[in-house]
This record gives sequence, C-alpha cells and structure tokens, in this order.
Amino acid sequence: SARPLSEQVLQGLRVVVTAGPTREAIDPVRYISNHSSGRMGYAMAAAAQQAGANVVLVSGPTSLPAPAGVQRLDVVSADDMLAAVEQSLAEGCDLFIATAAVADYRVRLKQAHKIKKSNDELALELVANTDILAHVATRQLASYCVGFAAETRRVEHYARDKLERKNLDMIIANDVSDTRIGFNSENNAVSVFWHDGTQTFPSQPKQALASALIELIGQQRRIKIK
Ligand code: CTP
Ligand code: CA
Repeated sequence: SARPLSEQVLQGLRVVVTAGPTREAIDPVRYISNHSSGRMGYAMAAAAQQAGANVVLVSGPTSLPAPAGVQRLDVVSADDMLAAVEQSLAEGCDLFIATAAVADYRVRLKQAHKIKKSNDELALELVANTDILAHVATRQLASYCVGFAAETRRVEHYARDKLERKNLDMIIANDVSDTRIGFNSENNAVSVFWHDGTQTFPSQPKQALASALIELIGQQRRIKIK
C-alpha cells in the first residue's frame, strides 16, 4: 500500500480469517464437502495483511498458496476449524472474518473402514456442526465480527436475519443465483449490511473487492470501538 503505516486501517490489529470448504468424513476414503474455492477468504486475508494487520488464516482444503506474511493453519473438518479458531482467538482478536463455507452437517458415525457397496440404498445420518461464527460472536471472542452469506434469493432479508441471529457487526452477502459471480469465479459482487447501514460493491476481481471491503470494515470497526 502507498499509504503511510499509521494510516493503514488495520494497523497492528490481530485478525483471524476462516476460508475454504470443510470436509466431513464418511469413511477413510469419502467425504461430504462443497464447491468453495477459498479465493474470497484468501483475498480478504491478503488485504487485511496489506492493511497492516497480523493475520491468521484458518483454512479448509484449497489449492491456493498462503498469502505472503499471513500465518495459515490448515484444517479439514468443521470440528477441526472450530478448534483452530478457538486456539487462534485465545490471545485476543480485534477482528474475526468468517468466509469459510463450513459444512452445516457431519456424518454422525464415521466408519473406520471403507463402506462396501451392498444394497440398492444407503442412508447417512447427519448431525449439525457448531456454527463457528455464531459461537465467536455470541461469546464476544473478537471485538468485531464479520460474516459472509451466500444466498440464491431474498438476499437482504436472509443476510439481515443472519446479522441479527448470529450477533454480528457486519455481513457481506453475495447472490449465488448469478453463476457469473461467487463460488469458483474470478470476480465477485456483494451487498454489505450492518446495523445502521448498507453498501453495494459492483462485480470486480476478488482481490480488488477484498481491499475495498477491508477499508469499509476498518472504518466501521473504528466507529464501533471508539
Ligand atoms: N458459518 C460458520 N460455521 C458454520 C456455518 C456457517 O462459521 N457451521 C459462517 C460462514 O463462514 C459465514 C456465515 O456463517 O460467514 C454464514 O454462513 P451460511 O452458510 O450463509 O449461513 P448458515 O447460518 O449456515 O445458513 P444457511 O446455510 O441455512 O443459509
Ligand atoms: Ca450454511
């Protein structure tokens, strides 16, 4: 950044970012997951680091290299991600940004051996994972909490519902019904909501968008904290 260090929006702050998908094991060779590439989360981590923060990136499996200057903790399942997040927050956190596409459910009983093909039907019993973001926000483990929401309809309604329900400071929503943006795409467009405001960001490369979002987060965080 061309700005003097003292003017960087996250100068000296401790930031924890979650990113990527999680994998929920069915047996030793199979899992349940989703199409998250991790790109938006990695872009947010890189932008936070460039804005002067000390960044820990808790990442599910992705094919991306860790951004320069960012400490990455690799995890696989949602339970692993929760444990790594709790460990990362233990020494205090100024800003928590949850971009991870955490699997909402895991298989109740992970099989120790590969499930053999037998019947025409196979039922898997799923149980809910802990909501990592809601856990962090409701316990106030970070002084400012930002969530992401991928929605296919009624974007503002569902995003504001998550903002309230999870006790967040800000939520960044993208409309994934438009297949040109969001999951696995180079560009992204979002609408951001906080308690007394909103701002929309037009479709642009994820790294440019992440820098603009970090600027907004830094400004709103200062308004809340001061
Ligand atoms: N999130 C999380 N832990 C989970 C599920 C979600 O930390 N177990 C976080 C995501 O990282 C994201 C936000 O919560 O920042 C919203 O995720 P999303 O899947 O959109 O919301 P859900 O509450 O799971 O609702 P639904 O999937 O039904 O839309
Ligand atoms: Ca979910």
